[in-house]
Amino acid sequence: MANRRRRLKLVLIVCAIGIGLFILIRSPPEIETPTESFPREQSPYCSKLCDQIVAMKSLKGIQNFTKFFLEVKEIMRCPWTSNLTQQMIYKTDLHTHCNSSMLFITRENTKLGQRLTYEVERKATKLVDKILYDMLPETAPWGTSRQFGRCAVVGNGGILKNSSCGEKINTADFVIRLNFPPMNYSSDVGVKSSLVTINPSQVTGSFMGLCNSRKPFVDKAAAYGNAYLAISPFSYVISTDLSFRVFYTMKEMRPQQGVLYIHPDYLLMLSRYWRKNGQTGLRLSSGFMLVSVALELCEKVDIYGFWPFPMDLSQQPVSNHYYDNVAAKQGVHQMSEEFLKLLHMHSQGVLQLHVGKCQ
Ligand SMILES: *[C@@H]1O[C@H](CO)[C@@H](O)[C@H](O)[C@H]1NC(C)=O
Ligand SMILES: *[C@@H]1O[C@H](CO)[C@@H](O)[C@H](O)[C@H]1NC(C)=O
Ligand SMILES: *[C@@H]1O[C@H](CO)[C@@H](O)[C@H](O)[C@H]1NC(C)=O
Ligand SMILES: *[C@@H]1O[C@H](CO)[C@@H](O)[C@H](O)[C@H]1NC(C)=O
Ligand SMILES: *[C@@H]1O[C@H](CO)[C@@H](O)[C@H](O)[C@H]1NC(C)=O
Repeated sequence: MANRRRRLKLVLIVCAIGIGLFILIRSPPEIETPTESFPREQSPYCSKLCDQIVAMKSLKGIQNFTKFFLEVKEIMRCPWTSNLTQQMIYKTDLHTHCNSSMLFITRENTKLGQRLTYEVERKATKLVDKILYDMLPETAPWGTSRQFGRCAVVGNGGILKNSSCGEKINTADFVIRLNFPPMNYSSDVGVKSSLVTINPSQVTGSFMGLCNSRKPFVDKAAAYGNAYLAISPFSYVISTDLSFRVFYTMKEMRPQQGVLYIHPDYLLMLSRYWRKNGQTGLRLSSGFMLVSVALELCEKVDIYGFWPFPMDLSQQPVSNHYYDNVAAKQGVHQMSEEFLKLLHMHSQGVLQLHVGKCQ
């Protein structure tokens, strides 16, 4: 306990210093455009650019994105080098605060007869009765200490359209996809899948709550091969039965493809952690949640399809998703602030963002 408190204090001090630094460097100096040609391995220009991006506190005040896009474009042209020290800092910090062995509800971290508290509707609880306990795996499918090699987290941003990133995504050891996305764009998004999240509202919206025909749902799930489906039954009360229906549908019709329940405590700890570290949105997007998971579990993290702006880097319009142009609900997520955090981590050599074409 004392140890934990000491750690917490340390984190708070580090945060305070960070915020102090941000305030000090609020108006970053102009960068001169370099004249030398690529590659600029460790060039002073690139490291200065990285420092400048890491010093940006928020995108909220920006009226004119031209300059920001220019900086992003430049940083993407700089060679990316990993910084294992900085990566380990994030890994350790995340593991300490949001231990990913709690990511999924398993028999290892959950007992028959205990109560789970909902992540968002904090007054509601769910008894882990025999019915629920029987749905739980013994452990997470990859055990508790497994480290993956290269992971790709594939967002659904329109930036992926015509990106030709599919082949590169397929070379990752572990591919995470979000919100049950269409897979018929393989040259841009690849075919390999290891874990796919589903938002319970998609089960209502697109599959009539699985109350009628369940085949369209199962067919769509089959497009991910045997990738696990991950769903959060205990964030909102309304999601519980929907999630159970997903579980039973798959168990009966496609037993080789498992359904995992995301633990509400894990999501709660994760959102508290990021709130302390500057993410002020009502809720983290599932993309940002899964990037956090990947940072803890993987040796290298590549990010595709995360781009919350209506224009690409050459100021061409970009649709909302690679498969449609339906706008996200406003006010729930702070996608652009999350993106800035990803850009910080890219600049620090912790993960690698891909926002352009892959060839
Ligand atoms: C935005 O900034 C760029 C360069 O800083 C400038 O050329 C452009 O005119 C600005 N656009 C608007 C709409 O203010
Ligand atoms: C890597 O990260 C550490 C910790 O933040 C930092 O001290 C070091 O300067 C970084 N190394 C490089 C090459 O940027
Ligand atoms: C994370 O959870 C696992 C299993 O519950 C436990 O063995 C481990 O000590 C935990 N790690 C931390 C840093 O809390
Ligand atoms: C993608 O490519 C197709 C065909 O090659 C073209 O019609 C379409 O305009 C392109 N879309 C974007 C967003 O570049
Ligand atoms: C993918 O499938 C959807 C619906 O099934 C369809 O509307 C869309 O045109 C397809 N896209 C491609 C590139 O095949």
